[in-house]
Amino acid sequence: MAIRLIVKKGDEALTKVCRTVDKFDDRLHMLLDDMADTMYNADGVGLAAPQIGILKRIVVIDIGDGLVEMINPKIVESDGLQEELEGCLSVPGVYVMTKRPFKVKATALDRNGNPFEIEAEDFMARAICHELDHLDGHLMLERGRVLSDEEIREMMSDGEDDE
Ligand code: NI
Repeated sequence: MAIRLIVKKGDEALTKVCRTVDKFDDRLHMLLDDMADTMYNADGVGLAAPQIGILKRIVVIDIGDGLVEMINPKIVESDGLQEELEGCLSVPGVYVMTKRPFKVKATALDRNGNPFEIEAEDFMARAICHELDHLDGHLMLERGRVLSDEEIREMMSDGEDDE
């Protein structure tokens, strides 16, 4: 297990469409463990593989309800709308008011290649949308308006986590 370096906006890895994973071996398990370590170490609630320079379709998310590992994830249904403040470990200090679906249903594979389905609402739905965007080279900056420092100061009194 190891903490990996999180790449920042401007790094090419964050602009690429990532590759599908087809090997569910020890190397993948080590990568997943490193991704979780790196996310927790940075106090994040989600991390996508390209954020550590690995162009594979893998994300880890923990919004406080336990670790979810998603390999080759796909959103298959979405419903409703939420507009919330969003941050990103690769774009430190920047917050964007994004529009995301309120509910999503996603399919993915677990670390052993077994398929599963996840239904999520609210913050978890937003985290899934944010992390899956990374796998196609998209940042939250494309999904809404960047807040000014003054607006952030007002809104941060509630506290927000980075994804
Ligand atoms: Ni992010």
